[in-house]
Amino acid sequence: MASLSSLGENGVRYKKDKIDHPRVASYAFAFDIDGVIVRGPDTVPYAKGALEMLNGKNPYNIKVPYIFVTNGGGRPESERAAELSKRLDIEVTEEQVIQGHTPMKDLVDVYKNVLVVGGVGDKCRKIAHHYGFKNVFIPLDIMYWNPSVTPYYDLTEEDEKVCRKDVDFSKTKIDAILVFADSRNWAADQQIILELLMSKNGYMGTVSETYEEGPSIYFAHSDFIWSTNYKLSRYGMGALQVTIAALFRESTGKELKVTRFGKPQRGTFKFAEKVLTNWRKDVLEEYVEEVESTMGSETSEDINPLETSDSDEGLEFSAKTTKTTTTTSTTVTKKKVDPKSMPVFKDSDSESSDEDDDEGLTIQKLNQLTLDLPPASTVYFVGDTPESDIRFANSHDESWFSILVKTGVYQEGTVPKYKPKHTCDNVLEAVKFAIEREHKLELAEWNAGAVTPPPEAA
Ligand code: G3P
Ligand code: MG
Repeated sequence: MASLSSLGENGVRYKKDKIDHPRVASYAFAFDIDGVIVRGPDTVPYAKGALEMLNGKNPYNIKVPYIFVTNGGGRPESERAAELSKRLDIEVTEEQVIQGHTPMKDLVDVYKNVLVVGGVGDKCRKIAHHYGFKNVFIPLDIMYWNPSVTPYYDLTEEDEKVCRKDVDFSKTKIDAILVFADSRNWAADQQIILELLMSKNGYMGTVSETYEEGPSIYFAHSDFIWSTNYKLSRYGMGALQVTIAALFRESTGKELKVTRFGKPQRGTFKFAEKVLTNWRKDVLEEYVEEVESTMGSETSEDINPLETSDSDEGLEFSAKTTKTTTTTSTTVTKKKVDPKSMPVFKDSDSESSDEDDDEGLTIQKLNQLTLDLPPASTVYFVGDTPESDIRFANSHDESWFSILVKTGVYQEGTVPKYKPKHTCDNVLEAVKFAIEREHKLELAEWNAGAVTPPPEAA
């Protein structure tokens, strides 16, 4: 059925069966990448449609902010964003992308000399420099310094092009080992990592007597397996961790202490919340600019370009001020309405009887809203790996809603170790499910206390 007018002439709120004026959602999405959006070189066919829906191509005209939280890495966030943009034919910015190693930025001021492991060539060295690390070494530098460190691997011409040739690792202390991305050479990387962990103060060629003097080790994530375009899952960084811990125990009799980032760790969750808040502000600011430019081009007081022909609403930011079921919405409209009859976002003084209040929300107030943005009412997290994704979304804040899809690690018929709030075939189904669920909630709130419209208003 078509959308009904929301307000009668006397400001009475009429019942609706669909809310479909342009607005920005109070809820948001976060997506895992491997096994949800891509599988190795292949793009999951449903992904493009899913993101188009969130960008506004949905029956309710709602724009939903979203970010990506992958345990993957090995390239700059900007490159990952560009690749997603290309594959999905949408604009993804680096501000929307968190990779496993992204939160390691916070270690920049903690360690002077770091060994960065994983990824192709010296890409991870460049990422670490970009994050602000000053002295960044990679295993290839050590292999060049002394090829006997890894007896079964000879540097290729490509390796030699990217490795540093000026470092004496018997005199250069490694303060921390940061495993940024999946190792491309497990044997060589294991050999070097273990030697340093057992070293005296991080110098190659030394052995600690206590095995407690080596550098600290950090992993960007601990996914044991992950999903590619091969039919079975592949071993990931979590598996490398297991082998290193086992070899360390076997050699020293001690348990290895590691620090993990990525999903499901709390640190990454906090980081993701910060990124999502910033991104929601960006989306809202862009929306405010759009509204401003539309209002700027208005020439007649009688014409409100923000209104649709069959509706009294203007463009709207639909925001829940708390994590309760009460939705408050910010409406930009020049139509005279009774503010008390509308679910308008309330500043502390929004009940005032000033003339201005009759104009709904002003741009200034909307700008203020971007500063005071309440947390997302619900964050739908779509992932394929119960141990990292579902656990991540279930563990840290009840406003996150986990959705497990069947296009990656999780296989239908198996029992997921961490139970999702909802399971879908693919990412498109997940988005449809959430949009419908949210629309029902929004509609129920609108209709609570609204009256049935007279026949002529329908
Ligand atoms: O190495 C990548 C992999 O372990 C998982 O990536 O996007 O599923 O978190 P993702
Ligand atoms: Mg995944």
